[in-house]
Amino acid sequence: MTGWAPDLSRSAYESPDIVALYARPDGLQKPEQTLLAELGPSLGSMDMLDIGVGGGRTTRHFAPLARTYLGIDYSAAMIEHCKLEFPSFRFAMADARRLEFAADESYDFVLFSYNGIDHLERRERTMALSEMRRVLRPGGVMVFSSHNANYLPAIIDRFRFRLRTSLRETLRSFKWSCVFWAKNGLLQYRMPLASGRVHDGTHSFRSSALYYVRPDIGVAELRRLGMVDIACAGNESSVFVSGDDPRLPPDPNPWIYYMSRKPGRA
Ligand SMILES: C[S@@+](CC[C@H](N)C(=O)[O-])C[C@H]1O[C@@H](n2cnc3c(N)ncnc32)[C@H](O)[C@@H]1O
Repeated sequence: MTGWAPDLSRSAYESPDIVALYARPDGLQKPEQTLLAELGPSLGSMDMLDIGVGGGRTTRHFAPLARTYLGIDYSAAMIEHCKLEFPSFRFAMADARRLEFAADESYDFVLFSYNGIDHLERRERTMALSEMRRVLRPGGVMVFSSHNANYLPAIIDRFRFRLRTSLRETLRSFKWSCVFWAKNGLLQYRMPLASGRVHDGTHSFRSSALYYVRPDIGVAELRRLGMVDIACAGNESSVFVSGDDPRLPPDPNPWIYYMSRKPGRA
């Protein structure tokens, strides 16, 4: 027993079709490319922890450059895939909420990419962020991405029922609109949402609701945690701006990358 809420997403991530989806050799997202360019020269002296490594999309780019690399995931199927695909790097099954295997201050760079952290509800998300901070050395870098609450109107619009050119497509639109509103009944009354969980259709609704947060609220979460030098980039942007930048609160990107540093030695 973990004492955690049942996690539908976890069983989805054990399914062969979802493993295959994340095992595609997709490239880095734009903010990740910037991150790689910025950290590149220092990675050779960094111990990296890649949380929610999935099919190893980020392994391909970061692991060969890091001093040491460990990819973890709570899905046994994802870890099995990574071990076969990248035999020269280390992988282990572990949960972001409890990084028991790692001593305090044992990593220089902790990454939780592609919104993996959003599967956790608020309290568990704070647990995971605290664990990520704990295992970082002073001056270490924490990076993760998270769904942007500013993008929710576009999600709602995606599931609006529409008459289509064929009966089949019209029925399809009706079906997914019904599923969306059955799962998110009160969402329209919660808009605009600063932060909260939404069933956004990820993995055809096989996952549990995902956490969406407005970028300035996400920055405030990191400040409460004691992180400094917070900078953010929308997933379509190569440029990280300061967490205080006035362009951040209304940023419309679907998801946001958050980069921050644990105070102490750089
Ligand atoms: C959206 S996928 C992204 C996979 C990979 N990082 C990528 O960018 O392609 C999220 C991954 O995070 C993992 N994950 C979600 N919650 C987790 C948790 N609490 N602990 C460890 N892994 C988790 C899932 O199993 C899944 O492999």
